[in-house]
Amino acid sequence: MKVAIIGSKGQLGSDLICACPSGVDLIGLTRNELDITLAAQIHEVLNCLKPDVIINTAAQHKPEEDNAELYFKVNAIAVRDLANAAKEIGATIVHISTDYVFDGKQPWDSSYSEDAKTNPLNTYGVSKAAGETYLRNILPQHYIVRVASLYGQTGASGKSGGNFVNIILNKAKLGEPLKVIDDIRMSPTCTLDAAKGIWKLLEGDYSFGNYHLTNAGACTWFEFARKIVELSGESCEVIPVPHTAYPSKICRPLNSALKNTKGPALTTWQDSLKYFLESV
Ligand SMILES: NC(=O)c1ccc[n+]([C@@H]2O[C@H](COP(=O)([O-])OP(=O)(O)OC[C@H]3O[C@@H](n4cnc5c(N)ncnc54)[C@H](OP(=O)(O)O)[C@@H]3O)[C@@H](O)[C@H]2O)c1
Repeated sequence: MKVAIIGSKGQLGSDLICACPSGVDLIGLTRNELDITLAAQIHEVLNCLKPDVIINTAAQHKPEEDNAELYFKVNAIAVRDLANAAKEIGATIVHISTDYVFDGKQPWDSSYSEDAKTNPLNTYGVSKAAGETYLRNILPQHYIVRVASLYGQTGASGKSGGNFVNIILNKAKLGEPLKVIDDIRMSPTCTLDAAKGIWKLLEGDYSFGNYHLTNAGACTWFEFARKIVELSGESCEVIPVPHTAYPSKICRPLNSALKNTKGPALTTWQDSLKYFLESV
């Protein structure tokens, strides 16, 4: 199987490379090698490489940004162009999407299943949902893999400070009290686990469609931060605050926890975090 990974230097892309099973003919594509906002380049590169599978991890995902045109270019139009190019060469696409396609208005102790109705609240979520729709409509042989609240050895390039785990670890070392949001619930996910899940999806007998490859369980950002501090052995106080304590012009889903009902099972977020912190 020949697999091309778009966004190969990113947080998830680099762990997809680390977790690549033997026997896979792997091609990592950085933005320099393929900028997915350039339709002609997509066709040229994919027609030349002719991969069996394209894994698209590239995204515009810094939620604070205002530039709607750029979000739509990268997260929607480029996915349309990738789907058309994949169709021409008979390739399958694994497209990485997000919990932000949901509005988060589900009951507090619930989690979205793969076929729950999407209803994004912000530009990032709207553009990612549009990308999903293009892919579904153009290319039947696709996997839409939704992940959430990612952390990995490589910090997310779109976010200052890397990822939430890095940020909390760095702040905890200073020993000052940390005020963390306790009324937003999500499914924190280690990129290495998500990457292993994606390879299992490709190597197993899974039908095309939507998948939620998140670590099992869910928690608030406060609960996640408290666990990071506890497991790292730092001694700093973690204080729960409502999301209104950090005013933002971005509307975020309050409960975007995801449920994996049909994909390869991933370990719990607590076990995954413990393993991750032992290896940093
Ligand atoms: N991070 C999260 O918490 C989170 C949560 C839910 C879903 N997701 C989804 O998970 C996926 C992976 O996220 P991540 O955290 O691994 O992101 P990341 O670390 O920022 O990696 C994204 C990669 O995409 C590349 N890229 C951006 N624009 C591109 C373009 N126009 N053409 C080609 N490559 C481009 C980036 O290259 P540069 O380094 O050159 O910018 C980067 O290497 C994304 O689809 C995201 O929407 C992420």
